[in-house]
Order: sequence, then C-alpha cells, then structure tokens
Amino acid sequence: MPFMPWSEQFVLGIESIDKQHRWLVNATNQLHEQIESAQPDEAVVRKILEGLVEYTVNHFIQEEELFVRFGYPETEPHQAEHDRFTKEAIHLLLNFEKGEAVTERALEFLKTWLTHHILVSDKAYAPFLKEHGIQ
Ligand SMILES: [Fe+2]
Ligand SMILES: [Fe+2]
Repeated sequence: MPFMPWSEQFVLGIESIDKQHRWLVNATNQLHEQIESAQPDEAVVRKILEGLVEYTVNHFIQEEELFVRFGYPETEPHQAEHDRFTKEAIHLLLNFEKGEAVTERALEFLKTWLTHHILVSDKAYAPFLKEHGIQ
C-alpha cells in the first residue's frame, strides 16, 4: 500500500488538473519511499523534492490562471491557501539544502495538506470551471 493511495474521491473530472494531482500524489509517494528506505539516496531525495516544489508551483499557477480567466469568486482565499503551502514547501526544500533530513512528519503534513486541499478547496471549483467549458 502506498503512503498516499490515490482515491477516486480526488477526481474532479477535469482531465488536465486530475493528471497534475495524480503526479503530485505519485511524487509524494516516491519521496516517502525514498526517506523510508534503509539508505536514502540524498541525490534522489533532492531530485524528487525539487521536482515536487517546482511542479506544485506550476500546478497552482495553472489553477489560478483558470480562476482569473473566468472570475472564480473564491480566487482570493484559494490563492492564499496555495501561497501558504508554497512557503512551507520552499521552507522544506531550503532546510534540506542546509542538511536537514526530510522527516516522516513533513511528509505527513504534505499528505494531509494535499488531501484536504484537493477534497475541499479544489473540489469546490470543479463545477464552476465545468460550467465554463473546462473539462
Ligand atoms: Fe488548488
Ligand atoms: Fe490542485
């Protein structure tokens, strides 16, 4: 069983977004697998972590671009959630660069945040974007 199993509940029914969420869940699992292994490979951890931060930021930009394009009423609070999380993710990366290990606790935070954000905040915009023809 992966650390963060993919759930059909995560599916918004918007293909490009669902694909990105799958990627994020997958990368979270890869990172967990690596830090839990007997001898974590630091170069691999760095690569996954950097990829995860970069991909997350791009994913947020894509969601926000759609919000702005169609005037999604919840843009501001949603963006604030993205911004807070981006700060946390960059913090994690900077600490890793300073020699701190990526902890199980950090991964739990990542998993909980992603789960909650997709199930509550992202799910909330799906009907709005679909009404505007995004699928
Ligand atoms: Fe989002
Ligand atoms: Fe999202």
